[in-house]
Amino acid sequence: MAASPSITIVVPTFREVESLPHLLGRIANVRKQHDLDLDVLIMDDSSNDGSVELVNLRGESWVQIMVRTSDRGLSAAVLDGLRRARSDVLVCMDADLSHPPEALPDMLRKLADGADFVVGSRYIDGGSTSDDWGFLRWLNSRVATMLARPLVNIRDPMAGYFALARTTFESGRDFSPIGYKIALELIIKCRCERAVEIPIHFEDRQFGQSKLSFKQQLLYLRHIRRLYIYKFGVWTQLIQFLVVGGMGAVVNLGVLTLLVMTRVPVRVSVASAIFVSMCFNFVLNRRFSFSFARCGPWLKQFVRFIGASSAGALLNYACTLAMLNYVPSLSPQLAAMIGIIAGTGVNFAASRYLVFRAAHVRVRMNAKP
Ligand code: GDD
Ligand code: MN
Repeated sequence: MAASPSITIVVPTFREVESLPHLLGRIANVRKQHDLDLDVLIMDDSSNDGSVELVNLRGESWVQIMVRTSDRGLSAAVLDGLRRARSDVLVCMDADLSHPPEALPDMLRKLADGADFVVGSRYIDGGSTSDDWGFLRWLNSRVATMLARPLVNIRDPMAGYFALARTTFESGRDFSPIGYKIALELIIKCRCERAVEIPIHFEDRQFGQSKLSFKQQLLYLRHIRRLYIYKFGVWTQLIQFLVVGGMGAVVNLGVLTLLVMTRVPVRVSVASAIFVSMCFNFVLNRRFSFSFARCGPWLKQFVRFIGASSAGALLNYACTLAMLNYVPSLSPQLAAMIGIIAGTGVNFAASRYLVFRAAHVRVRMNAKP
Protein backbone atom coordinates (compact mmCIF):
# COMPACT_ATOMS: atom_id res chain seq x y z
CA MET A 1 0.00 0.00 0.00
CA ALA A 2 1.18 3.52 -0.76
CA ALA A 3 2.79 5.54 2.05
CA SER A 4 -0.27 7.71 2.49
CA PRO A 5 -3.22 5.78 1.10
CA SER A 6 -6.49 7.38 0.09
CA ILE A 7 -9.32 6.65 2.50
CA THR A 8 -13.10 6.47 2.22
CA ILE A 9 -15.21 6.41 5.35
CA VAL A 10 -18.55 4.77 4.69
CA VAL A 11 -21.19 6.02 7.13
CA PRO A 12 -24.55 4.22 7.12
CA THR A 13 -27.31 6.51 8.27
CA PHE A 14 -30.96 6.40 9.07
CA ARG A 15 -32.37 9.58 10.63
CA GLU A 16 -29.07 10.98 11.87
CA VAL A 17 -29.46 14.61 10.84
CA GLU A 18 -28.72 15.82 14.37
CA SER A 19 -25.47 13.86 14.65
CA LEU A 20 -24.11 14.60 11.18
CA PRO A 21 -22.73 18.12 11.82
CA HIS A 22 -20.80 16.87 14.88
CA LEU A 23 -19.53 13.82 13.05
CA LEU A 24 -18.41 15.74 9.97
CA GLY A 25 -16.80 18.41 12.14
CA ARG A 26 -14.72 15.86 14.00
CA ILE A 27 -13.74 14.02 10.83
CA ALA A 28 -12.74 17.35 9.26
CA ASN A 29 -10.38 17.97 12.18
CA VAL A 30 -8.72 14.58 11.91
CA ARG A 31 -8.45 15.01 8.16
CA LYS A 32 -6.74 18.34 8.50
CA GLN A 33 -4.56 17.53 11.45
CA HIS A 34 -3.09 14.40 9.86
CA ASP A 35 -3.21 15.70 6.32
CA LEU A 36 -5.24 12.72 5.11
CA ASP A 37 -6.49 12.09 1.59
CA LEU A 38 -9.90 11.28 2.98
CA ASP A 39 -13.49 11.38 1.79
CA VAL A 40 -16.78 10.44 3.39
CA LEU A 41 -19.57 8.49 1.75
CA ILE A 42 -22.85 8.67 3.65
CA MET A 43 -25.23 5.84 2.74
CA ASP A 44 -28.65 7.09 3.77
CA ASP A 45 -31.75 4.90 3.64
CA SER A 46 -34.17 7.68 2.65
CA SER A 47 -34.29 9.31 6.06
CA ASN A 48 -36.06 12.36 4.63
CA ASP A 49 -34.99 14.29 7.70
CA GLY A 50 -32.96 17.02 6.05
CA SER A 51 -29.68 15.07 5.95
CA VAL A 52 -29.26 15.63 2.20
CA GLU A 53 -29.96 19.34 2.51
CA LEU A 54 -27.52 19.60 5.38
CA VAL A 55 -24.70 17.94 3.46
CA ASN A 56 -25.36 20.11 0.41
CA LEU A 57 -25.45 23.27 2.50
CA ARG A 58 -22.08 22.49 4.08
CA GLY A 59 -20.68 22.08 0.59
CA GLU A 60 -17.62 20.05 1.57
CA SER A 61 -16.27 18.53 -1.62
CA TRP A 62 -14.98 15.47 0.26
CA VAL A 63 -18.42 14.58 1.65
CA GLN A 64 -20.94 12.76 -0.49
CA ILE A 65 -24.38 11.50 0.46
CA MET A 66 -26.19 8.71 -1.39
CA VAL A 67 -29.87 8.20 -0.87
CA ARG A 68 -30.87 4.56 -1.10
CA THR A 69 -34.44 3.56 -1.84
CA SER A 70 -34.26 -0.22 -2.13
CA ASP A 71 -32.60 -3.11 -0.29
CA ARG A 72 -32.72 -1.19 2.97
CA GLY A 73 -30.81 -2.18 6.07
CA LEU A 74 -27.57 -1.39 7.81
CA SER A 75 -25.44 -4.19 6.36
CA ALA A 76 -26.80 -3.73 2.86
CA ALA A 77 -26.09 0.00 3.03
CA VAL A 78 -22.53 -0.60 4.26
CA LEU A 79 -21.81 -3.20 1.57
CA ASP A 80 -23.25 -0.91 -1.05
CA GLY A 81 -20.99 1.91 0.14
CA LEU A 82 -17.89 -0.30 0.30
CA ARG A 83 -18.52 -1.42 -3.28
CA ARG A 84 -18.80 2.16 -4.53
CA ALA A 85 -15.74 3.50 -2.74
CA ARG A 86 -12.59 3.74 -4.88
CA SER A 87 -9.98 4.57 -2.22
CA ASP A 88 -7.14 2.32 -1.06
CA VAL A 89 -8.50 2.00 2.44
CA LEU A 90 -12.17 1.52 3.35
CA VAL A 91 -13.49 2.44 6.78
CA CYS A 92 -16.93 1.96 8.27
CA MET A 93 -18.14 4.21 11.06
CA ASP A 94 -21.52 4.85 12.75
CA ALA A 95 -22.96 8.34 12.43
CA ASP A 96 -23.95 8.72 16.07
CA LEU A 97 -20.43 9.51 17.37
CA SER A 98 -20.14 6.16 19.12
CA HIS A 99 -17.01 5.61 17.05
CA PRO A 100 -14.28 8.23 17.58
CA PRO A 101 -12.89 9.50 14.25
CA GLU A 102 -9.74 10.37 16.20
CA ALA A 103 -8.81 6.66 16.28
CA LEU A 104 -8.41 6.64 12.51
CA PRO A 105 -4.63 7.26 12.37
CA ASP A 106 -4.12 4.28 14.71
CA MET A 107 -6.18 2.10 12.42
CA LEU A 108 -4.20 3.19 9.37
CA ARG A 109 -0.94 2.44 11.16
CA LYS A 110 -2.08 -1.12 11.88
CA LEU A 111 -2.98 -1.65 8.24
CA ALA A 112 0.40 -0.29 7.17
CA ASP A 113 2.03 -2.70 9.64
CA GLY A 114 0.48 -5.67 7.88
CA ALA A 115 -2.94 -6.20 9.47
CA ASP A 116 -5.64 -7.12 6.95
CA PHE A 117 -8.57 -6.01 9.12
CA VAL A 118 -8.61 -3.47 11.95
CA VAL A 119 -11.43 -3.26 14.47
CA GLY A 120 -12.11 -0.38 16.85
CA SER A 121 -12.62 -2.45 19.97
CA ARG A 122 -14.37 -1.90 23.28
CA TYR A 123 -13.11 -5.09 24.87
CA ILE A 124 -9.33 -4.94 24.73
CA ASP A 125 -7.09 -3.12 27.21
CA GLY A 126 -7.72 0.59 26.91
CA GLY A 127 -11.13 0.13 25.30
CA SER A 128 -14.36 1.01 27.10
CA THR A 129 -18.05 1.70 26.82
CA SER A 130 -20.10 4.47 28.39
CA ASP A 131 -21.13 3.59 31.89
CA ASP A 132 -24.80 4.21 31.32
CA TRP A 133 -25.15 1.03 29.33
CA GLY A 134 -27.93 -0.87 31.08
CA PHE A 135 -27.15 -4.34 32.43
CA LEU A 136 -29.32 -5.96 29.78
CA ARG A 137 -27.57 -4.32 26.85
CA TRP A 138 -24.24 -5.21 28.38
CA LEU A 139 -25.24 -8.85 28.93
CA ASN A 140 -26.73 -9.02 25.47
CA SER A 141 -23.56 -7.77 23.88
CA ARG A 142 -21.44 -10.19 25.91
CA VAL A 143 -23.52 -13.24 24.97
CA ALA A 144 -23.53 -12.23 21.31
CA THR A 145 -19.77 -11.77 21.48
CA MET A 146 -19.24 -15.19 23.03
CA LEU A 147 -21.23 -16.87 20.28
CA ALA A 148 -18.95 -15.32 17.69
CA ARG A 149 -15.66 -16.10 19.38
CA PRO A 150 -15.06 -19.47 17.67
CA LEU A 151 -15.52 -17.77 14.32
CA VAL A 152 -13.02 -14.94 14.62
CA ASN A 153 -10.03 -14.34 16.82
CA ILE A 154 -10.95 -10.89 18.14
CA ARG A 155 -12.48 -9.71 21.38
CA ASP A 156 -15.08 -7.38 19.90
CA PRO A 157 -16.46 -9.11 16.81
CA MET A 158 -19.70 -7.14 17.14
CA ALA A 159 -17.97 -3.87 16.39
CA GLY A 160 -19.30 -1.60 13.70
CA TYR A 161 -16.10 0.45 13.42
CA PHE A 162 -13.45 -1.10 11.21
CA ALA A 163 -10.98 -0.60 8.37
CA LEU A 164 -9.61 -2.78 5.59
CA ALA A 165 -7.83 -2.41 2.28
CA ARG A 166 -10.06 -2.22 -0.79
CA THR A 167 -8.13 -5.14 -2.31
CA THR A 168 -9.03 -7.26 0.74
CA PHE A 169 -12.69 -6.29 0.39
CA GLU A 170 -12.65 -7.12 -3.30
CA SER A 171 -11.27 -10.59 -2.61
CA GLY A 172 -14.42 -11.41 -0.59
CA ARG A 173 -17.10 -13.72 -1.97
CA ASP A 174 -20.64 -14.83 -1.14
CA PHE A 175 -21.65 -11.90 1.04
CA SER A 176 -25.08 -12.54 2.49
CA PRO A 177 -25.31 -10.47 5.64
CA ILE A 178 -28.54 -10.35 7.52
CA GLY A 179 -28.87 -8.03 10.43
CA TYR A 180 -26.18 -5.85 11.89
CA LYS A 181 -22.87 -7.69 12.05
CA ILE A 182 -21.16 -6.66 8.88
CA ALA A 183 -17.61 -6.79 10.32
CA LEU A 184 -18.05 -10.44 11.23
CA GLU A 185 -19.30 -11.18 7.74
CA LEU A 186 -16.36 -9.37 6.14
CA ILE A 187 -13.64 -10.98 8.28
CA ILE A 188 -14.93 -14.45 7.41
CA LYS A 189 -15.87 -13.98 3.77
CA CYS A 190 -12.72 -12.00 2.91
CA ARG A 191 -10.74 -14.71 4.72
CA CYS A 192 -8.85 -12.21 6.84
CA GLU A 193 -6.11 -13.88 8.81
CA ARG A 194 -4.49 -10.91 10.50
CA ALA A 195 -7.46 -9.13 12.06
CA VAL A 196 -6.30 -6.86 14.90
CA GLU A 197 -7.95 -4.49 17.33
CA ILE A 198 -7.23 -1.03 18.59
CA PRO A 199 -8.92 0.22 21.75
CA ILE A 200 -11.70 2.80 21.47
CA HIS A 201 -14.06 4.41 23.89
CA PHE A 202 -17.55 3.60 22.62
CA GLU A 203 -19.62 6.67 23.44
CA ASP A 204 -23.38 6.42 23.89
CA ARG A 205 -25.36 8.27 21.26
CA GLN A 206 -26.50 11.76 22.21
CA PHE A 207 -29.02 12.43 19.48
CA GLY A 208 -31.69 10.33 17.80
CA GLN A 209 -32.43 6.71 18.58
CA SER A 210 -30.74 3.32 18.29
CA LYS A 211 -32.15 1.07 15.62
CA LEU A 212 -31.00 -2.13 17.29
CA SER A 213 -34.26 -3.97 17.88
CA PHE A 214 -35.20 -7.39 19.19
CA LYS A 215 -35.79 -8.46 15.61
CA GLN A 216 -32.19 -7.55 14.80
CA GLN A 217 -31.03 -9.82 17.59
CA LEU A 218 -32.97 -12.77 16.24
CA LEU A 219 -31.49 -12.04 12.84
CA TYR A 220 -28.09 -12.15 14.48
CA LEU A 221 -28.69 -15.74 15.61
CA ARG A 222 -29.59 -16.71 12.04
CA HIS A 223 -26.60 -14.83 10.68
CA ILE A 224 -24.19 -16.49 13.06
CA ARG A 225 -25.58 -19.95 12.32
CA ARG A 226 -24.99 -19.30 8.63
CA LEU A 227 -21.44 -18.19 9.27
CA TYR A 228 -20.76 -21.35 11.28
CA ILE A 229 -22.08 -23.45 8.42
CA TYR A 230 -19.97 -21.46 5.96
CA LYS A 231 -16.81 -21.81 8.00
CA PHE A 232 -17.09 -25.24 9.60
CA GLY A 233 -19.44 -27.11 7.20
CA VAL A 234 -20.12 -30.64 8.34
CA TRP A 235 -18.76 -29.95 11.84
CA THR A 236 -21.56 -27.47 12.39
CA GLN A 237 -24.04 -30.16 11.46
CA LEU A 238 -22.39 -32.52 13.93
CA ILE A 239 -22.57 -29.96 16.74
CA GLN A 240 -26.24 -29.25 16.04
CA PHE A 241 -26.87 -33.01 15.87
CA LEU A 242 -25.22 -33.47 19.27
CA VAL A 243 -27.16 -30.59 20.82
CA VAL A 244 -30.41 -32.07 19.48
CA GLY A 245 -29.33 -35.49 20.78
CA GLY A 246 -28.71 -34.03 24.24
CA MET A 247 -32.13 -32.39 24.26
CA GLY A 248 -33.61 -35.66 23.01
CA ALA A 249 -32.12 -37.47 25.99
CA VAL A 250 -33.85 -35.00 28.32
CA VAL A 251 -37.16 -35.53 26.50
CA ASN A 252 -36.66 -39.28 26.78
CA LEU A 253 -36.12 -39.12 30.54
CA GLY A 254 -39.04 -36.73 30.99
CA VAL A 255 -41.49 -38.93 29.14
CA LEU A 256 -40.20 -42.02 30.91
CA THR A 257 -40.63 -40.46 34.33
CA LEU A 258 -44.13 -39.30 33.47
CA LEU A 259 -45.25 -42.71 32.19
CA VAL A 260 -43.74 -44.64 35.08
CA MET A 261 -45.40 -42.26 37.50
CA THR A 262 -48.79 -42.96 35.90
CA ARG A 263 -48.13 -46.68 36.34
CA VAL A 264 -47.67 -47.59 32.71
CA PRO A 265 -45.69 -50.87 32.56
CA VAL A 266 -41.95 -50.26 32.46
CA ARG A 267 -41.28 -51.87 29.09
CA VAL A 268 -44.02 -49.88 27.42
CA SER A 269 -42.73 -46.73 29.12
CA VAL A 270 -39.17 -47.29 27.95
CA ALA A 271 -40.24 -48.02 24.40
CA SER A 272 -42.60 -45.03 24.28
CA ALA A 273 -39.97 -42.69 25.72
CA ILE A 274 -37.49 -43.83 23.09
CA PHE A 275 -40.06 -43.38 20.34
CA VAL A 276 -41.07 -39.89 21.46
CA SER A 277 -37.46 -38.77 21.72
CA MET A 278 -36.75 -40.21 18.26
CA CYS A 279 -39.63 -38.17 16.84
CA PHE A 280 -38.35 -35.12 18.67
CA ASN A 281 -34.83 -35.64 17.33
CA PHE A 282 -36.16 -36.17 13.85
CA VAL A 283 -38.13 -32.92 13.80
CA LEU A 284 -35.25 -30.84 15.17
CA ASN A 285 -32.57 -32.42 13.02
CA ARG A 286 -34.70 -31.90 9.94
CA ARG A 287 -35.30 -28.28 10.90
CA PHE A 288 -31.78 -27.38 12.07
CA SER A 289 -28.89 -29.86 11.74
CA PHE A 290 -29.77 -30.89 8.20
CA SER A 291 -31.97 -28.00 7.19
CA PHE A 292 -30.67 -28.18 3.63
CA ALA A 293 -32.89 -31.25 3.14
CA ARG A 294 -35.99 -30.01 4.89
CA CYS A 295 -38.09 -29.84 1.77
CA GLY A 296 -37.47 -33.53 1.01
CA PRO A 297 -40.30 -36.07 1.56
CA TRP A 298 -40.67 -36.14 5.34
CA LEU A 299 -42.33 -39.53 5.71
CA LYS A 300 -39.59 -41.28 3.77
CA GLN A 301 -36.99 -39.38 5.77
CA PHE A 302 -38.73 -40.30 9.00
CA VAL A 303 -38.75 -44.03 8.24
CA ARG A 304 -35.09 -43.89 7.29
CA PHE A 305 -34.25 -41.87 10.40
CA ILE A 306 -35.86 -44.49 12.63
CA GLY A 307 -33.95 -47.18 10.73
CA ALA A 308 -30.66 -45.32 11.05
CA SER A 309 -31.22 -44.60 14.76
CA SER A 310 -31.96 -48.26 15.42
CA ALA A 311 -28.77 -49.21 13.63
CA GLY A 312 -26.89 -46.76 15.86
CA ALA A 313 -28.54 -48.19 18.97
CA LEU A 314 -27.63 -51.73 17.94
CA LEU A 315 -24.05 -50.73 17.28
CA ASN A 316 -23.94 -48.97 20.63
CA TYR A 317 -25.14 -52.16 22.33
CA ALA A 318 -22.77 -54.44 20.42
CA CYS A 319 -19.81 -52.13 20.89
CA THR A 320 -20.36 -51.83 24.65
CA LEU A 321 -20.58 -55.60 25.09
CA ALA A 322 -17.57 -56.20 22.85
CA MET A 323 -15.45 -53.73 24.82
CA LEU A 324 -16.42 -55.40 28.08
CA ASN A 325 -15.64 -58.77 26.61
CA TYR A 326 -12.23 -57.95 25.16
CA VAL A 327 -11.00 -55.46 27.77
CA PRO A 328 -12.22 -56.96 31.04
CA SER A 329 -10.50 -54.29 33.14
CA LEU A 330 -12.71 -51.59 31.56
CA SER A 331 -15.51 -50.21 33.74
CA PRO A 332 -19.01 -50.69 32.30
CA GLN A 333 -19.50 -46.92 32.24
CA LEU A 334 -16.46 -46.40 30.11
CA ALA A 335 -17.50 -49.22 27.80
CA ALA A 336 -20.94 -47.63 27.53
CA MET A 337 -19.35 -44.27 26.68
CA ILE A 338 -17.38 -45.84 23.86
CA GLY A 339 -20.55 -47.54 22.66
CA ILE A 340 -22.43 -44.24 22.76
CA ILE A 341 -19.72 -42.47 20.77
CA ALA A 342 -19.66 -45.21 18.14
CA GLY A 343 -23.47 -45.30 17.94
CA THR A 344 -23.72 -41.52 17.74
CA GLY A 345 -21.08 -41.41 15.00
CA VAL A 346 -22.96 -43.95 12.92
CA ASN A 347 -26.26 -42.20 13.63
CA PHE A 348 -24.82 -38.93 12.49
CA ALA A 349 -23.24 -40.33 9.33
CA ALA A 350 -26.37 -42.28 8.45
CA SER A 351 -28.63 -39.28 9.09
CA ARG A 352 -26.38 -36.96 7.18
CA TYR A 353 -25.70 -39.14 4.16
CA LEU A 354 -28.62 -41.57 3.95
CA VAL A 355 -31.60 -39.81 5.50
CA PHE A 356 -31.28 -36.08 4.83
CA ARG A 357 -29.64 -36.24 1.47
CA ALA A 358 -29.04 -33.05 -0.41
CA ALA A 359 -29.71 -34.91 -3.67
CA HIS A 360 -33.46 -34.69 -3.08
CA VAL A 361 -33.29 -30.97 -3.00
CA ARG A 362 -30.72 -29.96 -5.53
CA VAL A 363 -32.96 -27.21 -6.85
CA ARG A 364 -33.13 -25.68 -3.40
CA MET A 365 -29.44 -25.94 -2.55
CA ASN A 366 -28.99 -22.23 -2.96
CA ALA A 367 -31.85 -21.53 -0.64
CA LYS A 368 -31.05 -19.91 2.64
CA PRO A 369 -30.14 -22.45 5.31
N1 GDD B 1 -28.44 3.13 5.87
C1 GDD B 1 -28.87 2.60 7.03
N2 GDD B 1 -29.95 1.77 7.02
N3 GDD B 1 -28.25 2.92 8.18
C2 GDD B 1 -28.70 2.37 9.33
C3 GDD B 1 -29.81 1.51 9.39
C4 GDD B 1 -30.46 1.19 8.15
O1 GDD B 1 -31.42 0.42 8.09
N4 GDD B 1 -30.01 1.14 10.68
C5 GDD B 1 -29.05 1.77 11.39
N5 GDD B 1 -28.28 2.54 10.60
C6 GDD B 1 -27.13 3.36 10.96
C7 GDD B 1 -27.43 4.36 12.05
O2 GDD B 1 -27.93 5.56 11.52
C8 GDD B 1 -26.05 4.53 12.68
O3 GDD B 1 -25.25 5.43 11.97
C9 GDD B 1 -25.44 3.14 12.55
O4 GDD B 1 -26.12 2.51 11.47
C10 GDD B 1 -25.58 2.30 13.83
O5 GDD B 1 -26.93 2.26 14.19
P1 GDD B 1 -27.40 2.37 15.71
O6 GDD B 1 -28.86 2.34 15.73
O7 GDD B 1 -26.71 3.53 16.37
O8 GDD B 1 -26.85 1.00 16.25
P2 GDD B 1 -26.30 0.62 17.68
O9 GDD B 1 -25.59 1.75 18.33
O10 GDD B 1 -27.37 -0.06 18.44
O11 GDD B 1 -25.25 -0.51 17.25
C11 GDD B 1 -23.92 -0.16 17.01
O12 GDD B 1 -23.15 -0.74 18.00
C12 GDD B 1 -23.15 -2.14 18.01
C13 GDD B 1 -22.28 -2.62 19.13
O13 GDD B 1 -22.99 -2.52 20.28
C14 GDD B 1 -23.46 -0.65 15.63
O14 GDD B 1 -22.15 -0.17 15.37
C15 GDD B 1 -23.42 -2.13 15.54
O15 GDD B 1 -22.82 -2.51 14.28
C16 GDD B 1 -22.60 -2.66 16.69
O16 GDD B 1 -22.66 -4.05 16.68
MN1 MN C 1 -25.32 3.65 17.96
